[in-house]
Amino acid sequence: MTAPATIARILREAARQLVDAGVDSPEFDAKVLLADVLDTDINQIPLLRNQPISADQRQRLENYLRRRSNREPLQYITGETEFVGHRFRCDPRAMIPRPETELLVGTLAAHCQRHRPEAIIADIGTGCGVIAVSLALLLPYARLYATDVSTEALQLAAENAQLRGVSDRVTFLPGAYLRPLEDAGILEQIQVVVTNPPYVATDDIQDLSPEVRNFEPQQALNGGAQGLDFYRAFLPKCERLPHLQLLATEIGIGQAPAVSSLITEYLTATEVEILPDLAGILRIILAWRE
Ligand SMILES: C[S@@+](CC[C@H](N)C(=O)[O-])C[C@H]1O[C@@H](n2cnc3c(N)ncnc32)[C@H](O)[C@@H]1O
Repeated sequence: MTAPATIARILREAARQLVDAGVDSPEFDAKVLLADVLDTDINQIPLLRNQPISADQRQRLENYLRRRSNREPLQYITGETEFVGHRFRCDPRAMIPRPETELLVGTLAAHCQRHRPEAIIADIGTGCGVIAVSLALLLPYARLYATDVSTEALQLAAENAQLRGVSDRVTFLPGAYLRPLEDAGILEQIQVVVTNPPYVATDDIQDLSPEVRNFEPQQALNGGAQGLDFYRAFLPKCERLPHLQLLATEIGIGQAPAVSSLITEYLTATEVEILPDLAGILRIILAWRE
């Protein structure tokens, strides 16, 4: 009788399968999927290397590996992701949050902590809710409104607010641009707007990885011919926010000149700051209004 396969061997075989499928980080992904199946932390895997796994666990791992080999994103398979140090539910109802967006949240939270801890903030296009929920965690006196055209995404965002215990300070409203805030009669209250809108140019979507182009929601990615459709439609509407003092937006590669000039034109901004991400790409625009 052959000895049951150990975790070390299963991990090696899993990583090889993911290499063959063209996955970018096969060892890491294999470890994350195995840790999920074993219901343990990824750091525990080396300590378990000589142990066997059950037939049921093996079957679940095979199912996960099949999905990952088909290039389904890791976060959709495990159903979770991490953002500014907190765990969030993550599934195909919304786009997977990116590390660049942590910079947007960190910068805005630092500003509000210093100058406006009780801000009333609108997060336009909240997706799975990480921006609004993280800001609620970082700014315990702030009040947040989070909107999205996708009711599915909003449902996931509401689950995340519940999971992180901030449901009492984040209100979720369905609809496009400022419409949900207008319908709720709160345009006049908004002091800060944050958004990470769809900004990929339509023709560039086909060049994205299979994980992104085949699995993430198109309406979270597609920013029209030049990737600027959202900014062009949204920024002129901001004049309807009489008490807006700060707008913070994420932008795509090369979009800083176009978006900052739209902001200067429509927001009558008194100061505009453009910040690079860790890769040196101009990624965040902050605009202040008196
Ligand atoms: C790039 S995703 C960002 C999601 C999330 N805020 C994040 O940073 O991970 C953009 C989100 O905006 C939503 N969206 C697209 N067009 C919109 C519009 N006109 N008004 C409101 N939301 C919109 C999409 O459904 C999607 O959830």
